[in-house]
Amino acid sequence: MSQTNKGRSSRFPGFYSLDVDERHDRLCEFVRLAAEERYQLKHEALPLKIADQMVENVIGVFGLPLGLAANFRIQDRDYVIPMAIEESSVVAGVSHVAKLVREHGRITAHSTEPVMIGQIQIVGVADPDEARHRVLEAKERILHIANEQDPVLVELGGGAKDVEVRVLNTVRGPMLIIHLLVDVRDAMGANVVNTMCEALALFLEGRAGGKVRLRIVSNLADRRLAGARLEVSPAAFEEQEWNGEDVVEGILDAYAFALADPYRAATHNKGVMNAIDALMIATGNDWRAVEAGAHAYAARDGQYRPLTSWTRAAEGHLVGEIELPVPAGLIGGATKVHPNARIALKLLGVSSAKELAEVAAAVGLVQNLAALRSLVTEGIQRGHMILHARNVAMSAGAAGEAVSHVANQMIREGKIRFDRARQIVRHLLKGAERTVHDLEARLRHESLREAETRESESRPGKTGRATQPQRDDKVDEPLHHE
Ligand code: MEV
Repeated sequence: MSQTNKGRSSRFPGFYSLDVDERHDRLCEFVRLAAEERYQLKHEALPLKIADQMVENVIGVFGLPLGLAANFRIQDRDYVIPMAIEESSVVAGVSHVAKLVREHGRITAHSTEPVMIGQIQIVGVADPDEARHRVLEAKERILHIANEQDPVLVELGGGAKDVEVRVLNTVRGPMLIIHLLVDVRDAMGANVVNTMCEALALFLEGRAGGKVRLRIVSNLADRRLAGARLEVSPAAFEEQEWNGEDVVEGILDAYAFALADPYRAATHNKGVMNAIDALMIATGNDWRAVEAGAHAYAARDGQYRPLTSWTRAAEGHLVGEIELPVPAGLIGGATKVHPNARIALKLLGVSSAKELAEVAAAVGLVQNLAALRSLVTEGIQRGHMILHARNVAMSAGAAGEAVSHVANQMIREGKIRFDRARQIVRHLLKGAERTVHDLEARLRHESLREAETRESESRPGKTGRATQPQRDDKVDEPLHHE
């Protein structure tokens, strides 16, 4: 594990109420951010020049809010979790539940070695079973050809490790499907695996007979799994309106629902992926690969099921577990090219792709608990509405402190609508105009009084008494406020 943040607490009380500069200051107590990094975070998410190198036909860049989930303690180490996401309540939800768990329970995480699967499809094989044996007999040669493609990876302890061969019956007849198992170390791995598969095509055609078609990584990365487990006391969920035991029972009911019903499981897993995707995007990883793998893994027994499970331990604690493929890396792709991804990885402080995958699993599990807790208590709309109201307020022209004012008024009235936001903004503007008008009148009045005083003082026999404003002066009148 990385030493960067070791021993520092990720508890950031009141982080929400700070402004962005103050949040950076606070964050620096956890991980030192250089002045350029602070500038980068605030001003230039992705410079156009870099974007233009990344994909074709670039016409601009697309921004997303980068939030920070606090309070995470996984095993015995604190983490802050960078999350790039446009949906409100996700960052707040995971931060809040991470706090409950650190106070009333614990989170652990684990992972397999980072082994990806490359697939080579061979069609038109005369005797597929016989061909299967011929390919397996050449395993050492296959691994050798594959590993010649990336000697650095081999030096780091990774590389092609094994070969598996399946005969697949398809609508186009039997096919030979060869799986190359590659330990990709700290890479996401698609590039190296694809390169190896392509390099093997000629040799495999010769060995198996038939014709090689596809040579591509599989996104069902079920040899590269990450998991997390959390245990939390029902006391964590005790609130004025809610009974902790009942909340736990509600979460168990919610899980049973998802386990039995793919319609619910899809939404359950969408919530899990809210957090995992946000971390993947923030760290410049291929979140579509992680999504594809997660959903395929969720359907591995033939029915689409939840990625998490919830049970009760003997002493009554709620126990949650998650397991899914997390093909994410620290090198390659956008991880090193995107400046904010580099900063996100620095904040996260993970030292290997395995550790990144473990954190991702833990964050997904905590997000699932946050969603279920809301769903079995007040529902998710209240939390959503606060940020939704802020977005409506901004789209109606509110800025700065007026955003909270407009949002709060709409929430109080139960009318979170653009037209109402517009009315409140107009009212505020009128109030502000009146304030400016009053201020100008006051200044005019004061300078008139000063001129009179100067004039009377310059007359012989007069004192300076009139320089003090009197009670009946307009000066003390309150200014107009909304
Ligand atoms: C919303 O983005 C995610 C949830 O629907 C997840 C869930 O229902 O478990 C709240």
